[in-house]
Amino acid sequence: MSQLTITVNGIKVCGNRHEPLLTQLEKAGIEPEYQCRHGMCGACRCKLISGSVTQQDTLAFVGSNEILSCCSIPQQDIEISFDYQPNRNLKVTNTKIAL
Ligand code: FES
Repeated sequence: MSQLTITVNGIKVCGNRHEPLLTQLEKAGIEPEYQCRHGMCGACRCKLISGSVTQQDTLAFVGSNEILSCCSIPQQDIEISFDYQPNRNLKVTNTKIAL
């Protein structure tokens, strides 16, 4: 089954194993900061607390246990955190909340 759970700053949403993490968060109504969406600026950086992702080669600096959400695809349930609380778009009607 390709569905998985993404926990971001304590909020659980449903995810998958084929789209970039940033895209999945946006579809779930969570709006992390970003600029380039191609691994160059580092604006989408977050900490990977648990789980694993595949991440394509990037130019932006990432510290240990950090990933770029625009270039990372979850491989299993993951928990991540941003240093700030991302905005949430509560008007999204197809938001899926993991139980
Ligand atoms: S948005 Fe620029 S590295 Fe992800």
